Amino acid sequence: MDIRRDITLSYTHDVRFTQGAFAPANETLASVLTTDNEDIVKVLVFIDDQLELNTSVQKYFEAQHSLELVTAPIPLPGGEAAKNDWTHVESIWRAVHDHRLCRHSYIIAIGGGAILDLVGFAAATAHRVIRHVRMPTTTLSQGDGGVGVKNGVNFFSKKNWVGTFAIPHAVVNDTDFLKTLPEREKRAGLIEAVKVALIRDRVFYERIEKLAPALARLNHEALVEVVAQSAAHHVDHIATGGDPFEYGSARPLDFGHWAAHKLEQLSNFKITHGEAVAIGIAIDLRYSVEIALLDKATANRILALISNLGFATSAPELDAKDDQGQLEILKGLEEFREHLGGELTITLVPKLGEKVEVHEMDSAAVRKVLSASKA
Ligand SMILES: NC(=O)c1ccc[n+]([C@@H]2O[C@H](COP(=O)([O-])OP(=O)(O)OC[C@H]3O[C@@H](n4cnc5c(N)ncnc54)[C@H](O)[C@@H]3O)[C@@H](O)[C@H]2O)c1
Ligand SMILES: [Zn+2]
Repeated sequence: MDIRRDITLSYTHDVRFTQGAFAPANETLASVLTTDNEDIVKVLVFIDDQLELNTSVQKYFEAQHSLELVTAPIPLPGGEAAKNDWTHVESIWRAVHDHRLCRHSYIIAIGGGAILDLVGFAAATAHRVIRHVRMPTTTLSQGDGGVGVKNGVNFFSKKNWVGTFAIPHAVVNDTDFLKTLPEREKRAGLIEAVKVALIRDRVFYERIEKLAPALARLNHEALVEVVAQSAAHHVDHIATGGDPFEYGSARPLDFGHWAAHKLEQLSNFKITHGEAVAIGIAIDLRYSVEIALLDKATANRILALISNLGFATSAPELDAKDDQGQLEILKGLEEFREHLGGELTITLVPKLGEKVEVHEMDSAAVRKVLSASKA
């Protein structure tokens, strides 16, 4: 006997924008921490160690009578270090275990994309998933990763090798967090906005061009506008793109990312994700000109915007070779394919706001572009 039944699931991806999330009168966070019955719900908070919020978080929860903050917010080291050290996963599980959280409890992660990926993974695997709320604190995580549905940590020296797809219970984007970011991190999220505009929305792309002088100065209002629009595009793609859990081989939101992931690894994560994506996009634009997919004037226009926003479009690491004299960066293509599974699928941009998928990259053309892009 064969049994075959369809199981239909429906999720709501709840992304809120606010300012001053832990001000006593701000109800955004409390309103997403819903309780199913009269019981008091446990809340465990993990926080990026670059943020000083402990007192306001504790005061906020003292005023919430249906929620119990089981312990002071637990700090985790911000940045890629968080994802490179498996013992952090175990320490999060340990806290969940010791404070006896259940599947109706909440785990809140406050931090950059690295902390969100780490805590999201631990939350998705403890008790087979504990309700998880993300509070992204960087431009990159508020506009891209933090509003996505993936989590993960690095393993075997490979980015995001372990992870899950898990739609968070809610995401609260507090734009005030962006104010304390170092310049480099403020800038980082802009490239994901450029990326999503290039593949989806010419009007948004031109708006970024118009705002470029203010964005280059890292003006707060301009950053907030572009990050919010970027978040809306990322969420829209996930909700309507037909493949939220990436069963297929295409991953348009990873335009420019095959080289970027490898470059981050080759630089030992000294080049940040955003900086690597800028270089990855530059490589794919130059490659597209080389194979006559994109006209040179448009490519130069986009490269000029990327530079005007303060990103480099090349790096010495592109030149790194292995013992056999092979360019290391080229291994990024195969690693990208392996990570996605199935056929190699690379998204390229033939026109502003449009994308195409290709299944092979002409290695002579890639090599030519790489040697022309040397820093
Ligand atoms: N899950 C996804 O879909 C997805 C998508 C894109 C990127 N990512 C991942 O996100 C990570 C990058 O995240 P990121 O760019 O947000 O940076 P990050 O998490 O590496 O943080 C960068 C630095 O900023 C600090 N920081 C964070 N918020 C701060 C604040 N408000 N004020 C001062 N300092 C602050 C952190 O401590 C860290 O030192 C990468 O690991 C990347 O792979 C995940
Ligand atoms: Zn990215």
